[in-house]
Amino acid sequence: MINADLAALRQNYSQNELAEASVTADPFEQFAAWMNDALKAEVKEPTAMTLSTVGPDRLPSSRIVLLKGVDANGFVFFTHYESQKGRDLAANPHAVIHFFWADLERQVNVSGTVERVSTWESDEYFASRPFESRIGAWASHQSETITSRTILEERVAELSVKYADGNVPRPPHWGGFRLTPDRFEFWQGRPSRLHDRICYTLDRDDWKITRLSP
Ligand SMILES: Cc1cc2nc3c(=O)[nH]c(=O)nc-3n(C[C@H](O)[C@H](O)[C@H](O)COP(=O)(O)O)c2cc1C
Repeated sequence: MINADLAALRQNYSQNELAEASVTADPFEQFAAWMNDALKAEVKEPTAMTLSTVGPDRLPSSRIVLLKGVDANGFVFFTHYESQKGRDLAANPHAVIHFFWADLERQVNVSGTVERVSTWESDEYFASRPFESRIGAWASHQSETITSRTILEERVAELSVKYADGNVPRPPHWGGFRLTPDRFEFWQGRPSRLHDRICYTLDRDDWKITRLSP
């Protein structure tokens, strides 16, 4: 039993607005500006994004991952290559990442194609992770059924002894993906549900800006 009338919960969005004249011509710059705003506002987990994929069975699935870098080539995140998302992306590289910064009444949606980052990029990031996270990457067969948590904890204990010197190599099944965008949507909540939606789509090599109805 939920202790509230969900249909009656209503938030009016009034903090800001987004106009064609105020956005940058380059969506990566617009994203950087909004990420900087999210960092400045100290929103919780500003880099958390929902990653949606579609598997070979044509069924969608989604989960949160953390954005670990953005450059002119795209958006980078790290995961287990044999997880559900890893298997989906191997079969179908089209994906969407989605940020929601509630405190700023903003969402950003980026779609594109995903490919693995280079092995050196994965090595470099893996080496920067805490010891426990590096052990976890070996211990967890992400997305597979396990009979109990104890099994996982036993694996962690064994691996912590095996790599006691702190030298944990990157597992071959773990690494980064980069999403190269072909579409961005920046959404700013506005009063009475008349939100601003500014969309960038790739037109040959140029980004075309359009406004979508809320
Ligand atoms: C805040 C947050 C951050 C997360 N970051 C990651 C991440 O960067 N990489 C990752 O593989 N899983 C991350 N997870 C766990 C995923 O949401 C998910 O449970 C896991 O990757 C398995 O997904 P899959 O079975 O759909 O492949 C995160 C979860 C949360 C709530």
